[in-house]
Amino acid sequence: MSIDLDAILASQGPGLLDLAVQGPMAEMKGSTILGIAAQVRRLKAEGQEVCDLTVGDFSPQHFRIPSELSEEIAVALAAGHTNYPPADGVPELKAAIVRLYERRLGLKFSPDWVCVASGARPPIYAAWRLFTLPGDRTLSSLPMWNVGYYAQLCQTRHEFLHTQAQHGFFPTVEQVRQALPGARLLALNSPLNPTGTAIDRDVIEGIARALVDENRRRLGTGQPPCILLYDQVYWLLPSPGVQHHNPVSLVPECAPWVVHVDAISKCFAATGLRVGWAVLPPALQGPMKSLIGHIGAWAPRPEQLATARLLDRPERTEAALDALRGQLDARLSLAYSAIAAMEAEGLPVHAVKPQGALYLSLRVDLIGRGLEGWSFQDNESIRRWLIEEAGVAVVPFQAFDMEDESGWFRMSVGAVGLDELGAAMTRLHEAVRRRFGAAAPGQRGDLG
Ligand SMILES: Cc1ncc(COP(=O)(O)O)c(C=O)c1O
Repeated sequence: MSIDLDAILASQGPGLLDLAVQGPMAEMKGSTILGIAAQVRRLKAEGQEVCDLTVGDFSPQHFRIPSELSEEIAVALAAGHTNYPPADGVPELKAAIVRLYERRLGLKFSPDWVCVASGARPPIYAAWRLFTLPGDRTLSSLPMWNVGYYAQLCQTRHEFLHTQAQHGFFPTVEQVRQALPGARLLALNSPLNPTGTAIDRDVIEGIARALVDENRRRLGTGQPPCILLYDQVYWLLPSPGVQHHNPVSLVPECAPWVVHVDAISKCFAATGLRVGWAVLPPALQGPMKSLIGHIGAWAPRPEQLATARLLDRPERTEAALDALRGQLDARLSLAYSAIAAMEAEGLPVHAVKPQGALYLSLRVDLIGRGLEGWSFQDNESIRRWLIEEAGVAVVPFQAFDMEDESGWFRMSVGAVGLDELGAAMTRLHEAVRRRFGAAAPGQRGDLG
């Protein structure tokens, strides 16, 4: 006879269990993006044609991991690498990361600077946890992926630095310089999720200098330093002609205050393998290693060893990156040119030229307009219209903490084939032209 736990729960659980999670954790929210993606899956299951440009992930149908990774994982498993890895990563991977950073960024450091984890998220969370206390001031640009969740988890007084599209959605040096006094953590990400833009050399250099000045002022005052959490998980995926800039390469004196976060998740289309790392001064590596160890967020040993083998074959690493960049560029260029052509026709859409990662910023400028049963008061109504009329699913910048109802959306191209994307762009063009184009003057009567 088996015991029916659901029945026990139904008769005894509810009331009191609702009180089990208390305080800030009770207000913790799940990912908005995953909620939207679930809606897309539902619509598809109902038979609606929807191009899913929502999730910042790769579909293995279109994007395979480098063959070294799958082969070497199998080799490591067969060789019995099935026990706990060292808490800060296997020495082979730490050494391979050191060599990668020297080769690609011109930075030289010992393996004690590296802390390996199961993807980029554990070091990000660990950095927030270790370098802030509840009530501390923290900073980031806006929009930015997930930073609001981390600030909420750590109960910091978070200040989003508002940005503009013409600055690539990055803050200016002046904005950062003014905000730094008293701040414990500044989180930046380039190339940036959700916008697909990359930070200018002058801007990251100026921010790094401001950080050095701020921390020099704090020296001897008893005030803790401000840490720059520099998330560069997309750094090996710049668009053609775009260069990735790193604060430490430009201003070496900022090295003591910079925590780099990185992973194979995006740059090798390997989001499910769970290998990431932080590069940070050894004095900070100890506490990070302990925290990651206590929550058991290690990367599996076979994946670590396979990553080390891949990174230590520079020609294979470069070939894999070239192939992935080519696939992404083909998709981003297709979407960008399609939207630019719509804009040239006078339609109310705009895209920011992609500079890296898998994202494109799309503006659908319908706020305040109305249309046969549709009233576009907010991004959510535009999002629903795009799904229903054009079969195109995108994520509003609200999912990245931007509250302005200004018609900005993230398009993510990692889960679609070129044909599917091309067809989606044609549907989008037709839907916008039908409703808002000069060719449909009869439809324009109620536009605001
Ligand atoms: C900027 C940024 N950092 C970190 C991550 C998380 O990476 P991982 O899957 O390695 O935890 C993501 C995932 O979307 C991201 O966009």
